[in-house]
Amino acid sequence: MMQAINYDRLAADYARYRRVHPRVLERLLQRGELGPDARVLEVGCGTGNYIVAVQEATECIAWGVDPSAEMLARARSRGDRIAFLLGVAEALPLKAGACTHLFTVDVIHHLRDRSTFFREAHRVLVDGGIICTVTDSADIIRHREPLADYFPETVEVDLRRYPSIPQLMAEMRAAGFAGIAQEVVEYAFETRDISIYRERGLSTLLLLPDDAFRRGLSRLERLAARGPIRVVLRYVMLWGHR
Ligand SMILES: C[S@@+](CC[C@H](N)C(=O)[O-])C[C@H]1O[C@@H](n2cnc3c(N)ncnc32)[C@H](O)[C@@H]1O
Repeated sequence: MMQAINYDRLAADYARYRRVHPRVLERLLQRGELGPDARVLEVGCGTGNYIVAVQEATECIAWGVDPSAEMLARARSRGDRIAFLLGVAEALPLKAGACTHLFTVDVIHHLRDRSTFFREAHRVLVDGGIICTVTDSADIIRHREPLADYFPETVEVDLRRYPSIPQLMAEMRAAGFAGIAQEVVEYAFETRDISIYRERGLSTLLLLPDDAFRRGLSRLERLAARGPIRVVLRYVMLWGHR
């Protein structure tokens, strides 16, 4: 049976398995030109991986917003240099013009009302403020390693779930953002640790029928028993400014 996504329940898995994608962090810092004067908001911050890394690298003022109390409890346990606020992307708990930078990673496909979110992002950013939406394109979803090979059913599930890149660009533009541009970042590594798949620690695996999940996992277990497996993590970063 397919399972529903409950972020409070996923929080423990996220704290255990989710790591910062090094190229995403690098580009947020460099292209965003982040420094100590920046005021940075991560929307859908989860357990805080990215906003903690950004704040540590720059000493900027930082906020994280997420609707899951459990995710926020884990984020707050990492220190008090970031204000972690309970809230949703569609009604951000910040004043107009509070931030110079705003980003989301792996969140946009969860939002019920993206247009309202982009209008909210526009409201809380200063003039010239930068927005970055980090997500998966259709091409990335079709070629994820090892996910698309071992759990091919994730492709259809996620093509339905994720908005297309042209659609997102149009929505950002409609909310008032300019200079919309995209770049793809990639990080590849080898590992024998397949716990994140075994424990369904990715929301897409929760959306698979149990038999499809078990089939994929037993093939992946056989592969991992023979040696390290190659993992390739790719993202599209969509940039714009107010
Ligand atoms: C896949 S996780 C990403 C967490 C974090 N950005 C990261 O990359 O580690 C998605 C996050 O989006 C949050 N989320 C779901 N609906 C949301 C909404 N309407 N507004 C803001 N965040 C939301 C979830 O609670 C969860 O923490």
